[in-house]
Amino acid sequence: MKKILIIGGGAMGSAFSIPCIDNNHKVFITEPYSQRFIKNLSSKNKFHSALKINLPKKLKFKKYSNKLFYEKYDLIVIALSLTGINFIANELKKFKVKSPILVLTKGLKYEKLNKKIFTISQTLLKSSPKLNLSVLKGPCLAKELARKCKTSVIIANKNIKIAKLLGKMISTKYYLIEYSKDVIGVEICSAIKNIYSMIIGSGLSLNKSSSLFQKSLSEMKYITKSLKGKEDTVLSLAGVGDLYVSAAGGRNSKMGNYLGQGFTFQRAKKKFMANDTVEGEQLVREIAPFILKKFNSKKIPLMFQMIRSILKNKKFLI
Ligand SMILES: NC(=O)c1ccc[n+]([C@@H]2O[C@H](COP(=O)([O-])OP(=O)(O)OC[C@H]3O[C@@H](n4cnc5c(N)ncnc54)[C@H](O)[C@@H]3O)[C@@H](O)[C@H]2O)c1
Repeated sequence: MKKILIIGGGAMGSAFSIPCIDNNHKVFITEPYSQRFIKNLSSKNKFHSALKINLPKKLKFKKYSNKLFYEKYDLIVIALSLTGINFIANELKKFKVKSPILVLTKGLKYEKLNKKIFTISQTLLKSSPKLNLSVLKGPCLAKELARKCKTSVIIANKNIKIAKLLGKMISTKYYLIEYSKDVIGVEICSAIKNIYSMIIGSGLSLNKSSSLFQKSLSEMKYITKSLKGKEDTVLSLAGVGDLYVSAAGGRNSKMGNYLGQGFTFQRAKKKFMANDTVEGEQLVREIAPFILKKFNSKKIPLMFQMIRSILKNKKFLI
């Protein structure tokens, strides 16, 4: 039995507790930010308002506090959204955390100062270079994992032995794990697929979406290679696997669909998705300064068109 702490009680962090509990581990979950999730997790029946299920009774809720990091864990899982990454980077640094860490968060960070893009693991390692860090990505709808639908994901660590140890700890017959040494490639693919799923969603017909799917894969290969990831990773669960699930449904492709119908981003957001987070839009705003400066629009025309459409609030014309 291992001791696992999940930081982030949103949909994904909470769903992730289920395979961990099925493996008979002692699982704690904490929520540093959202009153809604604190209320859900500390309630008697543990009804999770995003997952629409009661979480296992064995899952223990811990109030977020500094004291959490005085304890030793066999694994700390980070399941915060991208906006929580700077916060957790500071906390891990302050408390010199030594436990192995597994990051579920998807996204990239742009640093204005040196005009560079950083993956999430690079962001965390910048402030705490000695962290024992692995990343887990892939096509995983939290609601489906919570209902134990068969799900395959990928753990990346340059040291594949560590990745496999973690995989053994969390895999079940419905939660299957693959492995990769290409940490950067896995992180880049799992982030930019949110932008490409908007692009594919704009297709409106299966024929057009299929053609956009193929073009998106080519651009993802080009971007991944340019940012020092492996081109082949685009064909893994973190790339094409995750692109499929996001393009087939979800908030990014829904926004893409409105853009395809001729709405501008701002109009579509206000009219149809006012309360929804569109991760692809957030990532466009984050990485646009870097992409526009460092890439040639002829090499990645779909990405440039989506950036223009969101930043300038112009119609998405392809
Ligand atoms: N690796 C995977 O298999 C996988 C699968 C699905 C989603 N994800 C990723 O997991 C992350 C969380 O997704 P989710 O569906 O649980 O989202 P969610 O909105 O349900 O939960 C977001 C979590 O982040 C926290 N948070 C938000 N803003 C914060 C801030 N400013 N400071 C600190 N904490 C903050 C929230 O309190 C909550 O715990 C996303 O990056 C998503 O892309 C990963």
